[in-house]
Amino acid sequence: MADLCQKMTSRMNNVKYAIAAVKSFKNVGSMVPSSSFLVKKIIKDIDFDHEIAILELGAGTGVITREVLSRMSDNSVLYSYENNSTFIDSLKNIHDDRLIIKAENVSNLNLLKDDYFDVVISSLPLANMAKGFKNKIYKDIKAKLKDTGVYLQYQYLLFDYNRIGKSFGNCKLEFCLLNMPPAFIYRTKM
Ligand SMILES: C[S@@+](CC[C@H](N)C(=O)[O-])C[C@H]1O[C@@H](n2cnc3c(N)ncnc32)[C@H](O)[C@@H]1O
Repeated sequence: MADLCQKMTSRMNNVKYAIAAVKSFKNVGSMVPSSSFLVKKIIKDIDFDHEIAILELGAGTGVITREVLSRMSDNSVLYSYENNSTFIDSLKNIHDDRLIIKAENVSNLNLLKDDYFDVVISSLPLANMAKGFKNKIYKDIKAKLKDTGVYLQYQYLLFDYNRIGKSFGNCKLEFCLLNMPPAFIYRTKM
């Protein structure tokens, strides 16, 4: 029964996602949420055995959010930013004390007081964003990460690979074919 409910919720979320994408493709950036293959590949190197603080940018309907929560330890924390009201409603259906939903634009990231994050996972559609806005986001991400922190980002084409490499000093590349569309994953360290 729980499985059936989960499947129904996931299907409903996919429909909501597609409708939101048609209304505002520039902001959403894709027609369907990330596949479970992409989600697992993005988070595969995160050390979930210890207490961890994760910052998620562009949570959508919560496919990455849910997977991260399912692996995180009890004292860990996940902050998830999302600015689309439909998606914010979906995220509010996730009842987990470790999740802090930031229902706002990532342009406010600098206002967040906490700066102890181990990992930033971003799904932001960078290709649709202005250069000045992206530079501000990179600066804010750096300010929020610990010295040992990791910034993870995916993108469908390699538009921002060089820029992220320059901003963060290094950027490793991986590819996930089993996603719609296939995606590149960027992994940087501070
Ligand atoms: C490509 S979707 C990814 C959604 C989800 N994380 C996934 O992997 O399926 C990008 C998400 O970023 C959100 N987003 C785009 N610009 C944003 C901004 N400036 N502030 C907050 N969220 C933003 C969109 O609403 C959308 O949910």
